[in-house]
Amino acid sequence: MSADTDQTRPLTSSPVTKAVIPAAGLGTRFLPATKATPKEMLPIVDKPAIQYVVEEAVASGLHDVLMITGRSKRSIEDHFDRAYELEEALEAKGDVDRLLSVRESSDLAQVHYVRQGEPRGLGHAVLCAEAHVGDNPFAVLLGDDLIETADLLRRMIEVRREHGGSVVALMEVEPEQVSLYGCAAVEPTGEDDVVTVTDLVEKPIKEEAPSRWAVIGRYVCDPAVFGVLHRTPPGRGAEIQLTDALLELARTAPEEGGGVRGVLLRGQRYDTGNKAEYIRTVVEFACRRPDLAEELLPWLREFVDRQDGAARG
Ligand code: UTP
Repeated sequence: MSADTDQTRPLTSSPVTKAVIPAAGLGTRFLPATKATPKEMLPIVDKPAIQYVVEEAVASGLHDVLMITGRSKRSIEDHFDRAYELEEALEAKGDVDRLLSVRESSDLAQVHYVRQGEPRGLGHAVLCAEAHVGDNPFAVLLGDDLIETADLLRRMIEVRREHGGSVVALMEVEPEQVSLYGCAAVEPTGEDDVVTVTDLVEKPIKEEAPSRWAVIGRYVCDPAVFGVLHRTPPGRGAEIQLTDALLELARTAPEEGGGVRGVLLRGQRYDTGNKAEYIRTVVEFACRRPDLAEELLPWLREFVDRQDGAARG
C-alpha cells in the first residue's frame, strides 16, 4: 500500500488535545472514607486530589478533560461545576479570596463525563472514552496519582509527537515494591529520559520482575489502544488491564499504531489512593504552604521528638 492510500496511519501526527481521567474505581483501600465519597475527592490540604490532576492536564496544554466516573461520583461533577448559591453568599460577604478559590475549579477546563457503569478495570475505564476521543491520540491521568510537575506529561506528549505510538511514565522503585505496580522491560534510546518498552508485567513478584521501572499513572495512548482493549480478556483480578493492552501495542508494528516508549520520571509522585502515602502527601503539601508551614513545622518537629522519646523509653 502506498503512503497516500494507507488508511491505518492518517492521524498519527494529530496532536494530543484530550485528557482522560479515570475515577470510577471502588477505592477499597480507603474504606470506609470512600463508601460514599470517591477517593479522588479526598482533600490534599484544601483541594481535592483530582483538581491537581486537572491542573496538570491544563498545564500540559490539554483543555478538554473527560472524567470516567462511577457510582457516588456526583461530588466530582459538582466540584467542577459552578456553585451559584455558595458564590452568591461569598460575594455578599465580600470574601473575594474564597470566591475565587470556589470559581477556580469550574473555570479550569472543559470537563466532560462518562459513566463506567461497572468498575471492570482501568482498561475498561479507558475504553469508555472511545466515543469522546475518536481517532486521536490522548492522555490518561489517573485521578489519584499526583505528579509534582507537568513537565513529565508535556515530555510524554512531545515523545508521542516525535515518534508516534504510545508512551508510559516510568518511575524507578525498590525491588520490594515492584509487585505493587506494572513493571516494564526497557531498552535505551538515544535520549537520556526516554526508553523503548519491550515487555510489561502487571504486579510481578520480585523474582520475576523484568526491571525496577514501574508504570505510574500517566499515559499517552495511540487510538489503536481501543481496538486492542475491545479484545483484551479480563486479566489479573478479573479486570481488563490497560497494561495488557499496552503490552500488545509494544509488540505491534508502528504502521498499526504500535510501539510503546517510556519517559522516566524526574521528580516526586504521590499515590493518594494509598493511606500512608496520602497522609505523607497532605503533610508535604501543607508544609510547602506559607500560610500553614509556620504553625505546622514546629509542631511536627516537636511531635517527632516526642515519638522518638517515647520509643527510647
Ligand atoms: P486503582 O486500582 O488504584 O483504583 O485504579 P481502585 O480499584 O479504585 O482502588 P482500590 O485498589 O480498590 O483501593 C487506578 C485508577 O483507575 C480508576 C480508579 O478510580 C483510579 O483512579 N479505575 C479503576 C476506574 O476508573 N475504573 C476501574 O474499573 C478501576
